[in-house]
Amino acid sequence: MLRLGVNIDHVATVRNARGSAYPDPVRAAKIAEAAGADGITAHLREDRRHIKDADIDALMENLAVPLNFEMAATEEMQKIALRHRPHAVCIVPEKREERTTEGGLEVAREEKRIADFITPLREAGCRVSLFVAADRAQIEASARVGAQVVELHTGAYCDLHYEGRFDERDAELERLREMSAHAHALGLEVHAGHGLTYETVKPIAALPEVKELNIGHFLIGEALFVGLGPAMNEMRRLMDEARA
Ligand code: PXP
Repeated sequence: MLRLGVNIDHVATVRNARGSAYPDPVRAAKIAEAAGADGITAHLREDRRHIKDADIDALMENLAVPLNFEMAATEEMQKIALRHRPHAVCIVPEKREERTTEGGLEVAREEKRIADFITPLREAGCRVSLFVAADRAQIEASARVGAQVVELHTGAYCDLHYEGRFDERDAELERLREMSAHAHALGLEVHAGHGLTYETVKPIAALPEVKELNIGHFLIGEALFVGLGPAMNEMRRLMDEARA
């Protein structure tokens, strides 16, 4: 079964826009859980622009489904992850120099640093995922450094779709297809996410090696109109349809 992880960061974005205590991202996470989310994803950014430290504390305390903790490869974030030991950590680029031109994490040129960084996280029992572009060098480096999972960055594919650049979108989809098979062949579990919507999810959900999608911004936006549960149900329906 293809898992759906729901990213609740942008509930916190709305909260922080007014510096208020609401809307509460933990409440959104509990609603997502009740509506059948397989996991909750939250990104504690260095500038705390959406999720804050107290949100991570509360998510760890209140969730029954696994937390996927997205974080930059910094000492501060590593300490927080080791204190909480979430089910999963996903290492994402935060600074320009950590990012490849396609937007994923630069693993290939930073192999030693990333390997050293993820070793204690793995030893603490966290499932380590690296958020990478559909790029052979990054995926092969991810396998070498000892990550268990790669999350393939679908942002470029989604942007090209909405810009109407369909030939380039299809070429990117082909790269995602080839690289999900390649990652799987190297023994990596394959996830995907970033920018996915009702319009763009199906070709990604149809990739047979992909085990989990992490979706946030679109679902939280759609929840304003129909509620989070119904938005998730429609996303799940499209995922299942693509999979069948
Ligand atoms: N996966 C990763 C690694 C991400 O960093 C994000 C964005 O925080 C997502 C998935 C979800 O992207 P979106 O909010 O665009 O659905």
